[in-house]
Amino acid sequence: MLKNSISAALCASLLALFAAAPAGAADHFTADRHLGYGLKCETCHKSAGMPQPGARVSKDTCKSCHDPAELAKKTAKLDQNPHYNHLGDVNCTECHKGHQPSTLMCNDCHKFNLKTP
Ligand code: HEC
Ligand code: HEC
Ligand code: HEC
Ligand code: HEC
Repeated sequence: MLKNSISAALCASLLALFAAAPAGAADHFTADRHLGYGLKCETCHKSAGMPQPGARVSKDTCKSCHDPAELAKKTAKLDQNPHYNHLGDVNCTECHKGHQPSTLMCNDCHKFNLKTP
């Protein structure tokens, strides 16, 4: 809990920095890259105004631009397919983090050699 609130505070101050930077200045994380594509905070955060700490993004929002069936096809040749597997409809942000390094949640249990953008 303490750790969470510290990282939320840290995250919020980092975000303040990112928000002040010109779009595309930092392309480390999923959100930065989307800003670099000319999209806005509201693209992912549907609520009006600047997103606040604790802000969440629904996977339906991601899916409104990225068709899951097409994604599954695109990554079908990988070992293993991150977009089609026994877990079913996994939340995109389990792997593609908004403002921190992405992960491969499969590797909580497995050891797959995939890099999540
Ligand atoms: C590509 C989509 C995307 C874009 C664009 C985006 N975010 Fe986020 N943001 C996320 C995701 C994903 C999370 C993590 C919450 C979740 O997993 O649902 C998040 C979380 C946050 C949080 C909560 C952080 C916390 O730890 O409580 C804030 C604040 C935030 N974003 C602000 C912003 C601001 C400001 C912008 C524009 C400069 C922005 N976001 C643009 C995807 C995005
Ligand atoms: C308004 C449309 C839109 C929304 C909403 C959106 N994206 Fe994207 N996304 C794009 C565009 C445009 C690109 C760049 C072209 C491409 O690679 O398809 C992109 C690229 C990506 C990429 C490719 C690698 C990268 O990061 O550049 C990933 C991964 C990604 N998006 C994940 C997500 C996730 C996860 C969410 C939800 C949190 C999301 N997107 C929400 C439009 C969107
Ligand atoms: C289990 C982890 C995981 C989940 C969950 C996940 N992804 Fe991915 N995603 C990946 C990995 C790994 C790659 C890179 C695949 C590769 O190496 O080409 C990727 C690639 C992508 C790309 C780039 C595809 C391309 O080659 O153009 C997009 C866009 C994307 N994901 C969107 C999403 C969206 C939207 C969701 C939710 C519906 C989602 N992902 C769920 C792991 C995940
Ligand atoms: C909570 C733990 C857990 C997570 C997370 C998880 N798996 Fe699994 N997975 C398992 C278990 C348990 C098995 C069954 C092992 C067995 O029967 O040998 C399995 C089996 C598999 C198999 C083998 C199935 C077969 O028919 O041989 C594949 C492939 C696989 N998982 C892919 C994935 C992918 C891709 C992800 C991420 C999207 C993932 N798993 C996430 C626990 C997990």
